[in-house]
Formats: sequence, C-alpha cells, structure tokens
Amino acid sequence: MTACIVGWAHSKFGKLDGETSESLVVKVAGEAMAHAGIEPRDVDVIYVGNMNGGFVKQEFHSSLPLQTHPDLRFKPSTRVENACATGSAAIHMGINSLAAKKARFVLVVGVEKMTELNSAQAGDVLIKASYVAEEAEIEAGFAGIFGKITSAYFQRYGDKSDALARIAVKAHKNGMKNPYAHFQREFDYAFCRNPSDKNPFVAGPLKRTDCSPVTDGAAAVILADSDTALGMKQAIAFRAAEHVNDFLPMSKRDIIQFDGPTLAWQRALASARLDLLDLSFVETHDCFTSAELIEYEAMGLTPRGQGERAILEGWTERDGKLPVNVSGGLKAKGHPVGATGVSMHVMSSMQLAEAAGPMQLTSPKLGAVFNMGGTAVANYVSILERVK
Ligand code: COA
Repeated sequence: MTACIVGWAHSKFGKLDGETSESLVVKVAGEAMAHAGIEPRDVDVIYVGNMNGGFVKQEFHSSLPLQTHPDLRFKPSTRVENACATGSAAIHMGINSLAAKKARFVLVVGVEKMTELNSAQAGDVLIKASYVAEEAEIEAGFAGIFGKITSAYFQRYGDKSDALARIAVKAHKNGMKNPYAHFQREFDYAFCRNPSDKNPFVAGPLKRTDCSPVTDGAAAVILADSDTALGMKQAIAFRAAEHVNDFLPMSKRDIIQFDGPTLAWQRALASARLDLLDLSFVETHDCFTSAELIEYEAMGLTPRGQGERAILEGWTERDGKLPVNVSGGLKAKGHPVGATGVSMHVMSSMQLAEAAGPMQLTSPKLGAVFNMGGTAVANYVSILERVK
C-alpha cells in the first residue's frame, strides 16, 4: 500500500446550466481539501482529469484548480487524458507521485462539461476516442461502436436484451438513492425492454435506456502517502491499482472478449491477494448496459457468454452476492467523461467510510473500481479498503 484517499468531494451530476468547468473544479477542489482537513498550501502536486477537449472552448485545464485559492499558485499541475478512463488515469498519476516520494498530498480533480453540445455533437467529440482511421465513420458516435460490439455479442451468444433491460432497471433503481445522480428516475422493466417513442433504438440493439447520458459534473480526491494517511481523519487505502492498455483498433482484437479488462482484473486481484467474491461491491464502467454485461465476465463473475446470469439471478443487485454499481453507475449517475473515474473512487470511498447516506451498504470492507477508456483500450482497476 503506497497511497490512500484521505478526502473527497463530488458535485451534483446532470445538466448543470450556469456552471462551467472552472466553477465545478473550484467547488470540488475546495471541498475535497476541507474534507481531508488540509490547507491549500499542504498540496504538493495536482492532476486534472479532463477528456479530449472539444466539449468546451476552454481546453487548457491544468491551472483551473489554482483558482480555488492563492496558495495553490506555483504548484505543479498537469492535465491527464485517457478517454473515458481519464479520471482513473489522473488518480494513478497521483499514486505514482506518492510512490516516487515527490509528494505527501496530491489533489486530483476530474471534470467534464458536456451539455453545451447536443447529443449528436457530443457524439462527434466522443468518437475521437475510437481508432479514427477505421471506426470514425460508424454512425451514432460511441453508441454506434457499442451497438456493433453488442450485435457481435448477440451473434455469438444469443439475444441478451432481457439482461440488458434488467441492468438498466437496476441502475435507475440504485440511482434513486444517489443524491448526486443525473437521473433520479425509475424506469420499469417493460419500458427498458421494449422500444417505444420514449425509448427508441439508438444503435444496433441498444435503446436509449441502454446508454449513459451526456452529463456535466466534477469530483475530487486528496491522496496521501500511507504513513501520512494514518494520521488523517479518514483513510481509504489502495490494496491494488492496475492499468492495462490494449491495441486501439477493434480489428486487431476479439472485441467481445474484453482481454484488457480481464487482465487488469486478474492483476489487481492477484496483487491484493483476493478473490473476486471477497469484495463487498464493485463500481464498474457501464457506459452502455452491454459493457456491464461483458464486464461481469471480465471480472471473473461468470464464464464467457454467461454474463446474463449475474443480473438475471440477482447476484449484482444491491442485496446480491456482489452488488455492482450501487451508485447507479454511469447509466443513471451520469458519465461526465473526465470526472467519471474520480467519481467512481469517491462513491467507493463513501461506501467504505460508511458515509454513503441513502446508498449505504451494510458494513462494506473492500470495494473495487473498474474504469475503461475507449473500447476496452485503457483499463484501470483499483481495489480499495478502509484503513482508518
Ligand atoms: N437514458 C435514459 N433517458 C435518457 C437518456 C439516457 N441515456 N438520455 C436522455 N434521456 C431522456 C431525457 O431525460 C429526455 O427525457 P424527457 O423527454 O422525459 O425529458 C429524453 O430522454 C430525450 O432527451 P435527449 O437529450 O433529447 O435524448 P437524445 O436522444 O438526444 O440522447 C442518447 C440520448 C442516448 C443518444 C445520449 O444520451 C447519448 O449520446 N448517450 C451516449 C453518450 C456516450 O456515448 N458517452 C460515452 C460512452 S463511452
């Protein structure tokens, strides 16, 4: 264990008219320092997670946290980007700074302000996280890409629309308990399962309720080295932090195998010396319901092609043997891409600190985050445990 999360903050996610990425960064950075009980002058290094740019005119983000307080002036701060895994990438950079003893306290902020664009324009920005030379012409942005992946999965293993609808229902039911969620709105199984005017097909077998929304939001954590962390108010330790990148072109991979996520999970569980079912919960990257389905297989919960069992038999419900996305996940909580990975770590820390309010599980001991950039290209697994 080289690093711990010792403070955190999370904005409301949603369509946040009147907020900018600057106002969101300032809000969560200040709140995270206050939550950790540190002063701005105590921060040694800053990382800002923000995706490719193109959602807002202000692309250069690294110094926005310095707007929080004059004492942050001259601190080294870097913007980190790794598609939809940008937030976890920023956290892992912070862990590296601690491991290299270049810092005692690291401020990590993830932010995205997406809703200045409409869904189609946002799709044009997001598609740049594909292998553009071969995949950019796929229609409907990233939903189109996951539409193709879902069709390929159905071709090999059969139509799993029932399972996808159940995953959507679970996400929205859990999101009802999350005050930070974009959608606090329940959808029943019939609505999610059947196409309608209000739930049209978006790409391939994916309907609107299978997609994460276009969302604004920010989240922040304060990281500290483990010795320092034990003297803080609260400390959530990284039992493992693994990062695996795969080839970018889908044509070079069996895309429904999710080999990168599988390896990241295997390495993380091995380095933490844990079995999957030792975990009390998982926050996984359900940018689309089919991603969550395949991730059940990648994390080792079911054999390949049998991911549907995990949802249809209730294993991943709040009261199941491995609750998945009790925060509502990207599907209901929202997916402001640069903020998502940080948000997943905040939600998990809240659970482990028993500070998750209406979302709280009973006495969770260990939690894991799986955050994914692109089509299983940049894959991050963190395993977290409360040590204070
Ligand atoms: N799930 C459920 N409901 C959704 C939704 C979603 N993802 N997105 C929008 N809605 C609802 C809205 O709240 C609104 O409801 P209302 O009519 O009751 O007010 C209605 O659907 C229409 O909203 P609108 O924003 O016009 O929908 P849209 O058709 O333009 O966009 C998607 C829907 C799914 C296309 C859009 O959310 C999208 O592109 N998502 C994918 C984002 C993405 O690719 N992220 C990166 C993943 S790697």
